[in-house]
Amino acid sequence: MNKNNIGVKILGTGSCFPSKILTNNDLEQIVNTSDEWIKSRTGIKTRRISGSNEPTSELAYKASVEALKNSHICPEQLDLIIVTTITPDMLFPSTACLLQKKLGIHAIPAFDLSAACSGFIYGIAVAKSFIESGLYKTILLVGSEELSKITDWTDRTTCVLFGDGAGAMILTAAPCENTNILSVFLGADGSYSNLLYIPAGGTLHPTTQETVIKKMHTIKMQGKRVFKIAVMKMSYAAKKALELSGKKIKDLQLFIPHQANMRIIEAVAKKIGVSMNKVFINIYKTGNISSATTITALDEAIRTGMLKQGDIVELIAFGSGFTWGATVLKI
Ligand code: UT7
Repeated sequence: MNKNNIGVKILGTGSCFPSKILTNNDLEQIVNTSDEWIKSRTGIKTRRISGSNEPTSELAYKASVEALKNSHICPEQLDLIIVTTITPDMLFPSTACLLQKKLGIHAIPAFDLSAACSGFIYGIAVAKSFIESGLYKTILLVGSEELSKITDWTDRTTCVLFGDGAGAMILTAAPCENTNILSVFLGADGSYSNLLYIPAGGTLHPTTQETVIKKMHTIKMQGKRVFKIAVMKMSYAAKKALELSGKKIKDLQLFIPHQANMRIIEAVAKKIGVSMNKVFINIYKTGNISSATTITALDEAIRTGMLKQGDIVELIAFGSGFTWGATVLKI
């Protein structure tokens, strides 16, 4: 219960994936890898790849249109737009402002939020706080990412992992007793910032011919070290958000963990004591789509009837920063 007695209702969700599918067999033609290695080490079979005229704001727009339709509201009823992304159309203006333009609305505030793969959980925390404070009533929250455009397609250790996609959620003020957000837990530790990052393109190493030649504009990752900390922090976040919600594992219909690696998902499920048949999996067809992962998965779970009204679900994420977070929702 918050002091204003305002709760948060999730009105609807939507998602959008680019039409191009990149298979493991396609990747065998690009780098020295195999379908067998990728499937057994990551669980990924295919991922979606955006076109050259299909920037992050375009996927965000299509996911938002779906979410608005499923929520039965029009863009004019929105009070705020938040886009979580690490792959904005450009450094500025924000992708949220570009999305606002595409939606044909003006004047409402719009900003991007950067927390890498945990972005959408951070976004839920921010949207919840704005609504509960009474500052904004109805918020469009979008996770939109095009990792394919920041990937080094000659690096087999990273290029097999990522994909593109977007998911959107509309949240609005509701009586406290009807709230759909039961808890949110967030964390970060910047001392791990050198394990998963893009070296150049910011103020530390502005773009030069040298940064381009040295491929400093694409993802660098120490996979093995990231893997271990991801398991630890996702399990921790999952337990903390559950504790804060007052729910037990048996009360939950579904767990939606960040889809970075099937082996990470299995290790987290084991650590928190959840059976794999309660764990949502779509990594085989999406790869890792950073902050768009948990929301597109939630949207799919709702659309396919895996989640019904009244069901309780936990979203759990981990990403560069490092950042981590989890939220327990009542659908
Ligand atoms: O979203 C944010 C979080 N991101 C993550 O959570 C990713 C976390 N890390 C991972 O998912 C895994 O560490 C990877 C999938 C990136 C790598 O799997 P791994 O089991 O940790 O493999 P590894 O890095 O220990 O490499 C094992 C072997 C190496 O060969 P040698 O040195 O044993 O001869 C690699 O060179 O596999 C080789 N390898 C590959 N072989 C075929 C690495 N990538 C590939 C590849 N195809 N694509």
